[in-house]
Amino acid sequence: MAAEEIHRASTHAPVNIAVIKYWGKRDPKLNLPTNGSISVTLSQDDLRSHTTASCAPSFTGDSLTLNGQAEDISGARTQACLRELRQLRREVEAQDSHAPKLADMKLKIVSENNFPTAAGLASSAAGFAALVRAIAFLYQLPTSPTDLSRIARQGSGSACRSLQGGYVAWNKGEKDDGSDSVAYEVAPASHWPDMRALILVASSDKKDVGSTAGMQQTVASSTLFQHRANEVVPKRMHAMEKAIHDRDFEAFAALSTKDSNNFHACCLDTDPPIFYLNDTSRAAIRLCEMINSRHDRSVCAYTFDAGPNAVVYYLANDEEAVAGYFKALVGDKPGWEGKRGQAIQAAQKSVLAG
Ligand code: DP6
Repeated sequence: MAAEEIHRASTHAPVNIAVIKYWGKRDPKLNLPTNGSISVTLSQDDLRSHTTASCAPSFTGDSLTLNGQAEDISGARTQACLRELRQLRREVEAQDSHAPKLADMKLKIVSENNFPTAAGLASSAAGFAALVRAIAFLYQLPTSPTDLSRIARQGSGSACRSLQGGYVAWNKGEKDDGSDSVAYEVAPASHWPDMRALILVASSDKKDVGSTAGMQQTVASSTLFQHRANEVVPKRMHAMEKAIHDRDFEAFAALSTKDSNNFHACCLDTDPPIFYLNDTSRAAIRLCEMINSRHDRSVCAYTFDAGPNAVVYYLANDEEAVAGYFKALVGDKPGWEGKRGQAIQAAQKSVLAG
């Protein structure tokens, strides 16, 4: 008997870390945000999701395995991505009668992250971006990164920013159907290649309040958040794009740190309050402030997602200054594993992805 033909495609997608944060949905079903956001894409050598999608006539059900564990894919978000991708494949099959009928076959998706899942290191972003692109490759869809970002957004909002390298913005969009709520490249990594990111893993535990639930509690209860979404972020989106275009680290640093602090202030203003930062996070903030004030300029910019891990952006020329200070900090503080050697391993340095 001839061996069954299995169709297969693989890809990987990087983690992105927002410098203007997405927090809040105006339409939870389509995953449309209350405000735009901008992120920096990290190197795939350090933090990435690798995904293989396959399909064959004998597969009996759709399945997803993440780091060796079976995951539930019946959720509306994953289903929305699969539905859209299958619909696009059907259009390909309708136009080409020789194209194999892949859209009707069940999918087997196998994904691996090389970093702690759900610890505030944007695992869902890399995960959904890789899942959507792997299936798009499998189906040989003629889709651009922007088209794919519209699909990945429905899996996890921040995932729409992980389909391109460099500096990426997610346009909030105005349309009710979400067709204009997509990601676009602000600048490629090569535009500002000396940007560096230090990831300080303060804790790799799963977070207490997931982003999806946390942000909707904020939307429902924080008055500070209304000001953030309507007044603060729209202005910052323009200012951050300009800072990136001008390679103006001073402006980039001021905007990123202020936006991170404003986002965490909104978390605190949520009822009940949400605490993502811990003592180690606050020590990292104080250290960055101290480094900047000693140098009388912005040497480093910190930002925190929905978890305690710090991401510190700096320029390659300041590598020694930043790494030196952080080595001193992590050597003594509990929460950084205590010992110098381990702490520095936890403090991964990432160059940016192309
Ligand atoms: C704090 O993209 O995880 O990291 O759309 O509900 O899946 P869902 O949320 P998610 O939220 C990310 C929030 C953030 C900020 C950001 O990445 O912009």
